[in-house]
This record gives sequence, structure tokens and C-alpha cells, in this order.
Amino acid sequence: MTSEEVRRKYIEFFVRYGHQEIPSASLVPENDPSTLFTSAGMQPLVPYLLGKPHPQGKRLVNSQKCFRAQDIEEVGDNRHTTFFEMLGNWSLGDYFKKEQLPWFWQFLTEELKLSHEKLYVSIFDPSASLGTGGNSGVPKDNESYEIWKSLGVPEDHIFAYGVEKNWWSRSGTPEQMPAGEIGGPDSEVFYEFTQVEHDPRFGDKCHPNCDCGRFVEIGNSVFIQYQKQADGTLQELTQKNVDFGGGLERMTAATNDNPDIFETDLFSKIITAIENISGRSYQDIAVSEQFEIITDHMKAATFIIASDILPSNKMQGYVLRRLLRRAAVKFNSICGSTEKPQDLAVVSGSVIDTYAGTDMLDISKKDEIADVIRQELDKFGKTLERGLAEIEKIAQIDGKIAFDLYQTYGFPLEVLEELFAVKGQKIDRQQFNEEFSRHQQVSRQGVK
Ligand code: GLY
Repeated sequence: MTSEEVRRKYIEFFVRYGHQEIPSASLVPENDPSTLFTSAGMQPLVPYLLGKPHPQGKRLVNSQKCFRAQDIEEVGDNRHTTFFEMLGNWSLGDYFKKEQLPWFWQFLTEELKLSHEKLYVSIFDPSASLGTGGNSGVPKDNESYEIWKSLGVPEDHIFAYGVEKNWWSRSGTPEQMPAGEIGGPDSEVFYEFTQVEHDPRFGDKCHPNCDCGRFVEIGNSVFIQYQKQADGTLQELTQKNVDFGGGLERMTAATNDNPDIFETDLFSKIITAIENISGRSYQDIAVSEQFEIITDHMKAATFIIASDILPSNKMQGYVLRRLLRRAAVKFNSICGSTEKPQDLAVVSGSVIDTYAGTDMLDISKKDEIADVIRQELDKFGKTLERGLAEIEKIAQIDGKIAFDLYQTYGFPLEVLEELFAVKGQKIDRQQFNEEFSRHQQVSRQGVK
């Protein structure tokens, strides 16, 4: 299936069950200074999950643009990205588990026609051996267990995990949630790519939450019914909500029984554009990881610039700068130092072409976005080669030298970490940060 088929089928399915479609909110939250980017479909809905009446009712559905900077280090395999589209449906104090789980199951098996045998589910159990991490006081979710069984899911396809895996809030486990934050136990669905052999580096036995890539999570029904209190306890909300989120990229990959999301139509034009300018092939395993990073970062950068953010040294602008510079360094590594990183600007055009016909991106901004990228990478390109040559000469890195490289050549810390990891060296982050603070203090005194 194409991504557009999956997206449409999902929205139409939930509209049939009485949901109103709401537009994707902006990637850069409006009126919410607590976070730099929208990272889940529920984020713009928090006031309504807390009880404020939503103008479109109690059942909502959409596809939301999301960006998770915290996942940047996981990018570089066939299934992780910083930017993704989250299919979401919500019950704002309306239906609960016994509607949500059968609906999602019906959607997967009847609409997407995924094979029952390849689907596994998980439920919350605070005493489960995997993923325990503090006592939330919330009991095992027996109700979800019984619902999955009644849908014909065999017992050996139902797994139980604790708070680390089957609890969802924007800030993580109950212990990590600040006062006022909402969350709850969740029930996830995984697709098994049987062609992927379990990798014993990730443990003796494979299971849905194993990180080897055989199982991929394709949907998460969160039962948002708790709010963290100032005294550290969890209190039941006055309304019980459902917050479902599932990655469009992964669902599309599952419909094609292909574990590589980069081979779906959500990435193929972008990969082709990078192949054209680099002369390398994504199928070449020597460079596939770099392709995945460049593809993800250029896509995320295009969406961030389309949200009216420009590269800078602070807030969203600095995240954008880091994405572009990391993509440039990876690009340089796959095609040699003679290539100009600003050539990557054309890749944004292929991102826009990928989303033509959807309301995810404003296609009239195509030239403007390419210009922003070209200018930023042109500037970085002037110091990139000299910086790489300098790095070659450094026998032993430390936090202070790393800070000098950042200052002089503009290498973000994580890029320096990767460049020195190749030489088997680690950068002392604390020393880097101390140097950074010292520099800021000196500049402030200068200004005074
Ligand atoms: N809001 C649920 C999730 O992000 O998985």
C-alpha cells in the first residue's frame, strides 16, 4: 500500500466510528513554550484531555507531523527517524478500552489486511520482569488482556511489561512525570518481520520489545486517566481518555511486509535525490546508515523551515542547524571531500514532492526552503574541509579542544563525537559544557 492509502483508510475508518477529523497542528507549537516541537498528536490536545470541551466533540482523528529531537541518536537504522507522521485517534472522556482495542485490531486486520499471525500485543503489568522501574501503584491491565484474548489473539502473542515499556506520558515513567503531567498505562501492537533473524547481541530471546528489529511497534493505545500530583502520587482524572498514536511510516512498511521504512514511498524520492547528487546507492551497505541519517535530517529540516524557523544558535533554530550540519558531514563522508554540502539543498525539493497532494507541507515554499538550506550549508561548507583536516591532526581529543572545534568550525557536539568515535576516542561532555559556560561568561562580561 502507499502511505496515502494507509493515511486515508485510517482517517476514514475512525470517521465511520463517529470521529471528527482535525488538521495537523504546526510542528512548532503555538502558545506552548514548554516544548520546542510537537512530538505527539496529543500535545495540542492536552487541555481537552484534562476536561475542556473540544469544539469538534469527544471523538477526534488526524495525522500529525511530529519531531522528536531526543531520538536523534537512534536514527541510522531501517526504522528510526526524528520526523514522522503520527496517525492518532482520541476519546476525550468518551469510549475506552473495549472500543479502542477492537477498532484498532479491525483496522489492522481488515483495512490494512495484516496477517493475524504477525501481530503481537503488549499490556501494562507493574510486576512484569521486563521494564519495571518504580512502583506506580497502578494495577495490572487485566481488562486489556481479556479484550485481546476475546479478539482471538493467542496468549503467546500477548506480552506484559512494566512502566518503562507500557506506560506513556510526554515525560516518560510516572517517576519522571512533573506535577500536573498526564499519562497512563498503554497497550501496544507490534508487527513481526519474520524475515529478520533475531540478533543475540540484544538478548538470548526475542520478544516484541527486543531492539533487534524483528518486531516493530506500529501502534500505541494510551489510556490517559492519571495526573501526577505535587506530592508525587497519581490521581485519577475526572475523565478517562484514549490517546492512540501510530507511525504512518511503520504501518506502511508493515503493509508491504518490508522492515525498511526508507523503502516506502514516504522516503523513496528523497533517497533517489541523494543518490543522484552523491553518486552512491542506498543499497550499498557501506553507506546505508549515512543515507538514513541524511534522509531523515533533510526531511526534518525541510519541515522545520516550512514552519518558519531559520538556522540560528538558539532554540528551534539551533536544532535545525545541527540537523543540517550533521547531514552535511554524513554527505561528505559518503562522497568525498570535494563535494559541496550545499548541493543537499535540492533534496528539500524531493521532500516537498513526496508530500504534494497532502496538506502536510506548503508546496509554495519550495524555492524559499531550498535557499535557506543552500545559504546555511554554503557557510558551513567553507569551514567543513578545513575543520576535517584539523581533526585529522588531533592525536587526543578532550572537552576543551572539542569546544574550540565547535567555536572555530561550527561542528555540533554530536557530530564531533561521531568523528572521534571513528578514531576510538570519546569526548568528555562535562568538560565541553564547562568550556561552553566559561565562554558565555566571558562574552557576557565583554558586553558589560
Ligand atoms: N501519544 C502516544 C504515543 O506517542 O505513542
